[in-house]
Amino acid sequence: MQVIKVADKVAGSQKAFEIIATGMQANAKVLGLATGSTPETLYQKMVDSELDFSQTTSINLDEYVGLTADNDQSYHYFMNQHLFQYKPFKNSYVPNGNASDLDAEAKHYDQLIDDNPIDIQILGIGQNGHIGFNEPGTPFDCGTHRVQLTQSTIDANARFFANEDDVPREAISMGIASIMKSKHILLLAFGANKADAIAKTVNGPVSEDCPASVLQNHPNATIIVDEAAAANL
Ligand code: F6R
Repeated sequence: MQVIKVADKVAGSQKAFEIIATGMQANAKVLGLATGSTPETLYQKMVDSELDFSQTTSINLDEYVGLTADNDQSYHYFMNQHLFQYKPFKNSYVPNGNASDLDAEAKHYDQLIDDNPIDIQILGIGQNGHIGFNEPGTPFDCGTHRVQLTQSTIDANARFFANEDDVPREAISMGIASIMKSKHILLLAFGANKADAIAKTVNGPVSEDCPASVLQNHPNATIIVDEAAAANL
């Protein structure tokens, strides 16, 4: 696991952008993407760049259950707003949180990942160490699946909703095993509220108590942290 420390979110997003640009020059064709506040500046840099994604496939990590793609809190909507409306990809996949059979959708999504192996997977990290919506306790061998969100994640995501009751209680998420298939994993963490999770991820035991600690077992994982998120390293 390589840890890159940078001054702030802008510098970290620039570093991540350069890794993606270099990867694409070296023929990376499939990007795994995340939502949330962490990758927003990176996506802005991608939008402002000359990079052409028309031959690139994107596969998103997760989606809430029960929100339609045009709901402004859905991850489909987030991706359209921040990236896809400006930079169309060849194909962009986000799990369908409205599928009538969510288990079948999860299976289908893992097949999609096997058919389109992810070259570079972007990750954020939850304060409890989650990656995607893989909350503490999620088995490492788990593929894409339906998830009950923990109270910590509901509280953290409530800032995006009018009130906490509106935060969906379930999501569909790539599993840890699905994420670990990516050839290169790029986890970004900015801000003091990520410092504990980053310390456990980098220096803690590899344990389901901190899902991101599994990245210690990945042959090509890069963690980009700003000074605040690196405070406990
Ligand atoms: C989002 C995702 C989540 C977030 C994490 C951090 O697609 O999978 O794991 O990356 O909750 O969220 P932010 O970036 O808002 O702090």
